[in-house]
Amino acid sequence: MTAVTKPRAACLIGWPAAHSRSPLIHHYWLRTLGIEGGYNIEAVPPEGLAEFVLHLSTHGFAGANVTIPHKERVLALTRPDDRAQAVGAANTLWYEAGELRSTNTDIEGFLGNLDACVPEWGQAEEVLVLGAGGASRAVVFGLIERGISRVHLANRTMQRARALAEQFGAKVQPIAWESIGEALPRAKLLINTTSLGMHGQPPLELDVSLLPSHAVVADLVYVPLETPLLAAARARGLKTADGLGMLLHQAVRGFELWFGRRPEVTSELRALVEADLTKV
Ligand code: ATR
Repeated sequence: MTAVTKPRAACLIGWPAAHSRSPLIHHYWLRTLGIEGGYNIEAVPPEGLAEFVLHLSTHGFAGANVTIPHKERVLALTRPDDRAQAVGAANTLWYEAGELRSTNTDIEGFLGNLDACVPEWGQAEEVLVLGAGGASRAVVFGLIERGISRVHLANRTMQRARALAEQFGAKVQPIAWESIGEALPRAKLLINTTSLGMHGQPPLELDVSLLPSHAVVADLVYVPLETPLLAAARARGLKTADGLGMLLHQAVRGFELWFGRRPEVTSELRALVEADLTKV
């Protein structure tokens, strides 16, 4: 009898998980790179998470993405790397020498997208980050890793901005939400990590005309694709990086860890996911 080896597969673990675009992204890369592999959606309720993750390979998977509401809890079920620990959440699991590891690829998703959209962004000395949740922690980690010397951090709940500043040290300065207008004229890079501007959420009320003339504006929101913030920045002639770009770039390392090839974020992939996001 010959042993039948099943193709490698990864999955997305969430509850609910059905709305995710990750299968579209990973199936595109599997197809275009000619790799025989799979990427499934696994709806796993909170009470089933530990069993599923601890036996991930028995369930047939070489690794996984993790989404809401499990991103924090998987840290305790795996050995997180520095990135997952700093962000306090993991979105990617893989096996390393038989051990289940976890990481957070939002950091490189954010940086990779900025590098692709605005290669000169790193010259910004002062950066203004809006929001102090998990997405903000990933962004701030990436900015500091790239040597940004001053991050002004505004959040509606000041206490969360202070806690984040304490975690990352003196380069991060918490400022009051009401002081955003005063910080804008010095911000060479503005990043929205809040949910403001997202479909169904209130708009982000902010006057982009106060930004310096060569400022760069990034928004992590990708529904809608062009947020009112990005539209206003583009209308002023500012360079921008959008949330969809970050979503695509954050998927790269998971694929590489599971399938052994580093995939590229192509304009064809972007168009595919854009079409899916805008279909009714
Ligand atoms: P994520 O992990 O995606 O960052 P989160 O931890 O829920 O999600 O953070 C959401 C961010 O959006 C927070 O900075 C939140 O501000 P608070 O810390 O004050 O809650 C911000 N946010 C959400 N709704 C907001 C609103 N109406 N006005 C201002 N900020 C808002």
